[in-house]
Amino acid sequence: MSTVLRIDNLTLDIRGTDQVTPILRGVNLAVEAGTVQGLAGESGSGKSITGLTVIGLEPPTAITSGTVWLGETELMSITGSRLNAIRGRRIGMVFQDPSTSLHPQLTIGSQLTDHLRYHLRLSKAEARERAAESLSRVGIQGGMPVLERYPHEFSGGQRQRIAIAIALACSPDLLIADEPTTALDVTVQAGVLALIRQLVDDLGLAVLFITHDLGVMSSIADRVAIMRNGEVVEEGSRSRIFNDPQHPYTHSLLASLPGAKGGLQTREDLAAIGLRDEEATG
Ligand SMILES: Nc1ncnc2c1ncn2[C@@H]1O[C@H](COP(=O)(O)OP(=O)(O)OP(=O)(O)O)[C@@H](O)[C@H]1O
Ligand SMILES: [Mg+2]
Repeated sequence: MSTVLRIDNLTLDIRGTDQVTPILRGVNLAVEAGTVQGLAGESGSGKSITGLTVIGLEPPTAITSGTVWLGETELMSITGSRLNAIRGRRIGMVFQDPSTSLHPQLTIGSQLTDHLRYHLRLSKAEARERAAESLSRVGIQGGMPVLERYPHEFSGGQRQRIAIAIALACSPDLLIADEPTTALDVTVQAGVLALIRQLVDDLGLAVLFITHDLGVMSSIADRVAIMRNGEVVEEGSRSRIFNDPQHPYTHSLLASLPGAKGGLQTREDLAAIGLRDEEATG
């Protein structure tokens, strides 16, 4: 298996007027091709900042150290147009709110084709062709006419699928998904998770999947990293993390799940977070 993303000893401090606040305290994390690496942990632990720093969108007042490798490219040392060329092309991003990625006043076709033409230098006709293909891959059918529609003409779940289509249009190696299903209702959420899983299995995509929801985590992630106070305190296969957590913080996180009083002991506990029994024994 090949490592698509490797974060080594990433630290980030926020410089204030009279103090410096440590936010990331030496994060280590790797994401392999064809797998979903989950990143979980309590609110404020630094999950989103980790994802944003990988794509060079950390707060302007941040001071960072450490290395972030995307294949053979070290991302922390590059800036400007070289970074722009990588962001969106080799790394796709999806956030909780699809309107972060979708402009309300532009048709979805023009957003997709602008993106494709900027990164891949396609002709207008080629870009439209590829835009329709990208949409159909995420389950937005309708061919060319669908390109003329505006974001508000789609449901929330469809908008998130469109955001995923844009993120994946240039066939990136890595998708960073930060709470991509948190704003969706449960059935729509399941559809988007199944879509991401299918893209990972079909395209060999590597996904860094950030969520505070361990139920969602257990249904999508191959491996899980648990973050607390700016550090990854534990990392392992999904079944190992859910079935045999080593760190006391992971224990308390799992024990706080509904239906899992005192930890994930029984078949019912596992079912409550969507983990099947046979997976938990591996
Ligand atoms: N732009 C910013 N300027 C200053 N501090 C920030 C900024 N963005 C985030 N922080 C701080 O960094 C820490 C980590 O925030 P982050 O958004 O990464 O948390 P998170 O783990 O994603 O939480 P949640 O589950 O609520 O999304 C928090 O203490 C937050 O207040
Ligand atoms: Mg966050």
